[in-house]
Amino acid sequence: MAVELENVVPLGRSLKEYRLMFGLREEDLDKKILGVADGIASFNAEMTELGKTVVSVDPIYNFDGREIKEQFYKIIDSVVDQLRNTQEDYIWEFFKSPDEYREYRIQTLDKFIGDYDLGKRERRYIIGDLPSLDIENSSFDLALSAHLLFFYSDQLSYEFHLASVKEILRKANEVRFFPLLDIKSMNRSVHLDPIIHELESEGLSVELREVDFEMQRGGNMMLRIVKEQ
Ligand SMILES: C[S@@+](CC[C@H](N)C(=O)[O-])C[C@H]1O[C@@H](n2cnc3c(N)ncnc32)[C@H](O)[C@@H]1O
Repeated sequence: MAVELENVVPLGRSLKEYRLMFGLREEDLDKKILGVADGIASFNAEMTELGKTVVSVDPIYNFDGREIKEQFYKIIDSVVDQLRNTQEDYIWEFFKSPDEYREYRIQTLDKFIGDYDLGKRERRYIIGDLPSLDIENSSFDLALSAHLLFFYSDQLSYEFHLASVKEILRKANEVRFFPLLDIKSMNRSVHLDPIIHELESEGLSVELREVDFEMQRGGNMMLRIVKEQ
């Protein structure tokens, strides 16, 4: 699926947010991690600074830093305006206000951009798109994916979700997804229960776990799938 930069909402979260969203413990950070659809998250940059191992895969890495930054500044004000107009749908705890959210997103972008060229040379940012990833099978301990699957359930079909989840499971022993709410309806993704059912029927261990991060009201659940305990 070729991605047009115009259609991407390039917003990225920080290591602090990833830790909360995915309920990552200290020992999880030492795992070999694949970030699927990491986009402009500063997770990879911050983890690398700590000496940890993260590879991020996203079609946005087709573009250079200047193009990505331009796209970010094209959309950030409308995203913040939208948050301001629907404030009651969100919990203002991690961020105290839409303005603070905007500032934080800029800091995250700057951290990502500061690491991007080096990370590309080091093959820590690789171009790829679901549902098929050109990555060696079973080469990661843990895969994390936020704000794509389940989040865009109105645009991405059940078949796309299932193929993508299965593909990510080929790459890592354990996979975590957050959030499980659909951004459009702000309800639990319609694809979630059928996916869980399908994975369980294949003998995988599936868990819905509450995490200490809730921005979309009711969106504090993470999906964790493990192949081998
Ligand atoms: C809203 S951003 C989320 C970034 C990051 N995971 C975070 O939570 O901060 C969604 C990302 O999904 C990426 N994306 C879109 N289509 C994709 C696909 N088919 N496979 C992998 N990533 C895709 C976009 O390029 C974008 O970076």
